[in-house]
Amino acid sequence: MSKITVVGAGNVGATCANVLAHEDIVNEVVLIDIQGNMAKGKALDMWQQAPVDGYSTRVAGGDDYALTAGSDIVIITAGIPRKPGMSRDDLISTNAKIVVSVTQNILKYTKNPIIIVVSNPLDVMTYAVWKASGLSDKRVIGMAGVLDTARYRAFLAEELDVSPKDIQAMLMGGHGDTMVPLPRYTTVSGIPVTEMIRKDRLDAIIERTKVGGGELVNLMGTSAWYAPGAAAAQMAISILKDEKRIYPCCVRMNGQYKLKDIFVGAPVKLGKKGVQEIIKLRLKKDELELLHKSAAARVSGQIKHQSCPDIPA
Ligand code: NAI
Ligand code: 2OP
Repeated sequence: MSKITVVGAGNVGATCANVLAHEDIVNEVVLIDIQGNMAKGKALDMWQQAPVDGYSTRVAGGDDYALTAGSDIVIITAGIPRKPGMSRDDLISTNAKIVVSVTQNILKYTKNPIIIVVSNPLDVMTYAVWKASGLSDKRVIGMAGVLDTARYRAFLAEELDVSPKDIQAMLMGGHGDTMVPLPRYTTVSGIPVTEMIRKDRLDAIIERTKVGGGELVNLMGTSAWYAPGAAAAQMAISILKDEKRIYPCCVRMNGQYKLKDIFVGAPVKLGKKGVQEIIKLRLKKDELELLHKSAAARVSGQIKHQSCPDIPA
């Protein structure tokens, strides 16, 4: 019996649960929200979609954490999203309280889950969940890089008029405007992207990627959910199937890239143990500097919020 719980049945959580239900890889997807009837209703709706789309995944929902007992993976999307004019960091105090209480509730019913954090500001919330959980740092992973690279890949595919499937890319750093896309590690079916695009066009795409979340907030009045929900599901699938896919994920650094005791984005092999390996790229001096600059922004957030009463010291 395998089970994935998604906490937060809002835009991102419901999308993620729906993608996972369609994948038919677990017996059950559970959707939890403080708005219990809404979670129950969305779960019922997804279950009624099963005969149409042809999947067997049971979908259950509500506000009772007993439903989550024995989850292999828990995906936390609970929290408030940003509105136009807000940065991700403006969400810290509200969302820290939420993700810490969600983590405590989850652990009452599941001893050793793998947790994927989505709530923003992502790097700090992943740190908060890890602190609150007492779990190994191999089992608490943040989702941001899969989304940020997806945006970068989509923009490149549009510019080059090729399939997004053929764009492979890596990106590091925090989930914020200091993220570090890596053109040196971007290919189009194995061809270095720099051989296919003018430098000024590539630079413009990198800049658009960095503020890609804000572009959508300005269009919709709230943050994105289709790509974020699918991105979190993709990480869960690699873990559940022990695929060992390599994705940019927010993980705790233990000396890699000269960073220690901080959650930040890096290339990670994801398998049944969670973080199987943090891949060490041979970054050039300027790339490493950008990574450290991005990490510094995250460190200050993480240190500042170590004193936040809602994140256990
Ligand atoms: P939303 O408002 O649509 O859904 C959030 C849900 O969380 C609501 O249904 C709410 O009732 C629920 N919730 C609030 N407190 C809760 C609690 N204590 N326990 C259980 N459920 C609770 O928001 P949306 O768009 O789904 O975004 C969710 C979070 O994900 C936000 O913080 C957003 O910034 C973040 N996000 C992160 C991304 C990333 O790349 N890491 C991408 C997109 C969104
Ligand atoms: C995004 O990048 C808001 O983090 C969210 O869409």
